[in-house]
Amino acid sequence: MKSKIFTIFILSLLTLPLSLLSQARVEQGKELYELKCGRCHFAYAPQKYSAEEWKTIMADMGPQSGLTEESEKLIFEYLEKEASEKEKGSLPSRPVFAGYIYSEFFASPASTNTFDIHYLNVSITGRLHERVSYRAEFEFEHGGGKEEPPFVEWAYLDLLLMRNMGVKIGAILAPFNRFDDFHAPLENFLVTRPQMSREIGVSAWKEVGLNLHGNVFLSEKLYLNYDAYVINGLGAGSRLRKSRQYKDNNDAKSLGFRLSGVYNDRWELGTSYYHGAWDDDGQFNVNMYGFYFLGKMGDADIYAEYSNALSENPEPIDDGKADGYFIQVSYLLKEKFRPTIRYGTLDYLDLGDMFGRKPTDYDTKALALGFNYYLTRAIVFKVEYNIIGEGERKEPADNNLLAFQAAVRF
Ligand code: HEC
Repeated sequence: MKSKIFTIFILSLLTLPLSLLSQARVEQGKELYELKCGRCHFAYAPQKYSAEEWKTIMADMGPQSGLTEESEKLIFEYLEKEASEKEKGSLPSRPVFAGYIYSEFFASPASTNTFDIHYLNVSITGRLHERVSYRAEFEFEHGGGKEEPPFVEWAYLDLLLMRNMGVKIGAILAPFNRFDDFHAPLENFLVTRPQMSREIGVSAWKEVGLNLHGNVFLSEKLYLNYDAYVINGLGAGSRLRKSRQYKDNNDAKSLGFRLSGVYNDRWELGTSYYHGAWDDDGQFNVNMYGFYFLGKMGDADIYAEYSNALSENPEPIDDGKADGYFIQVSYLLKEKFRPTIRYGTLDYLDLGDMFGRKPTDYDTKALALGFNYYLTRAIVFKVEYNIIGEGERKEPADNNLLAFQAAVRF
């Protein structure tokens, strides 16, 4: 008996350093997880998914997160340890479900005060092979019905060519500037979107084509993200935003890229470019470029973007020109409250009235003041007041807006 206790004692002594070591690895994994995976959205509770599901998610999110082989391993070990037990051993091909719901209420002298079930979004992500994953998101907008049938926000397969480099094939969100990645309600800290992002780089820009993406480490703390794409491109809608299309209206394909550098997982600076013909004959081009900056300082988030678009028009009509920027500062207080301030402009003048295009004239400046309350990290209640002014080309009007939003991510 004594000798048995002694053996157990000795064994525990021997394994103690090992378990301390693995505990240290898990701690390191947790820290990396919160840093790397909490950059674009909050770091989801590890218990939300099984280890197999985390493997699927890592195949999708890992290449976007600037991971070395070692940091990927550490994060996965942490997730695996904390993962939900319920589905251990599930098939790798079983998709992971996620999504969000949000409702809004808008009050403005310029329009009818209204409740709005803005979106129900459901996404599925799956892994069929160690090099092939797929992802689809369905959107049910404004309660559905004939006017707003459900549609696919994106649906693509992602073929991993090598570590940190893949190609998405299918319906993607065109990577122009960065706001598209933050348009969902938990990632956008305000209720409204910047007007510039809605109209240039056209937020939630669904496109069909190929998107090569990846990242490259320049040093331990600095990496580059790149996207290069060939897509159908914008068509002859009444303005850029209305020119989004899944099909193509001409034989010319559109090209673009986005390049960014991320330092210390806190600072990001990026630029984007897009070039493509918009008319049915493929003679007149839209050229867009943009810059953005994202920064985290403690609990403060800073975000700024600039976009510029030029639409060629046939003689003698002047080319359509649009540009705008926004600057946003947001602060998370005690993990529960988030005041946000954003100032944004949009100056868009295109007098071309042809091929389905209509004249467009925006000249606005908007100051948005928001306050969010988070019941949990996945449940938010927002209130926002938006002071909207018209520029010199327009008659002054009272377009100020009061907006409320309730949103959950599941
Ligand atoms: C470059 C930005 C970015 C980084 C970094 C990032 N994510 Fe994501 N993540 C997204 C976006 C965008 C979505 C989709 C949100 C939506 O549905 O609009 C998402 C969704 C998710 C979801 C919800 C499930 C799903 O499939 O929609 C999980 C879980 C997730 N990410 C985990 C991670 C993990 C783990 C990491 C770190 C390895 C990570 N993310 C890093 C941008 C990012």
